[in-house]
Amino acid sequence: MTLTINGDSHTLDVEPGMSLLELLRERLGLTGTNSGCNKGDCGACTVLMNGRSVNSCLVLAAECDGAEVLTIEGLAQGGKLHPVQDAFIEEGAVQCGFCTPGMIMRAVEFLKDNPAPTEEEARAAIEGNICRCTGYERIVVAILTAAKKLKVKGK
Ligand code: FES
Ligand code: FES
Repeated sequence: MTLTINGDSHTLDVEPGMSLLELLRERLGLTGTNSGCNKGDCGACTVLMNGRSVNSCLVLAAECDGAEVLTIEGLAQGGKLHPVQDAFIEEGAVQCGFCTPGMIMRAVEFLKDNPAPTEEEARAAIEGNICRCTGYERIVVAILTAAKKLKVKGK
């Protein structure tokens, strides 16, 4: 199979039962995407596949033939963090950091669909992403700050 990950084309053989998460972490060493529950409940493994967020633990690697996958490692451009990454840092939305890559990837997708969200919409957007540390308040604030940053950048 051939797929594009963070802009790079990869052609490889995968075992039938291998998940996209296993492919990323174990085969390709892209360990920024975290493995939590491994059954679709926590969102720690969220990546974008063809522009939409997916729980990569639930996607078979074999289903990704021809897909474009974006992980947290591919978000920064030209040595500069993505505005959503900047906002998470500035707003203190990161504690242990375990949920952070998945939260950020989900937020990137959400803000593309809804560039000027309300607080309630931002909160609802991350319902599938569990954070055990922050109580979610700073994460919601960070998403709203990221929306403003993206607006300024015209993205
Ligand atoms: S590790 Fe995939 S949803 Fe929890
Ligand atoms: S910052 Fe620790 S799980 Fe979210």
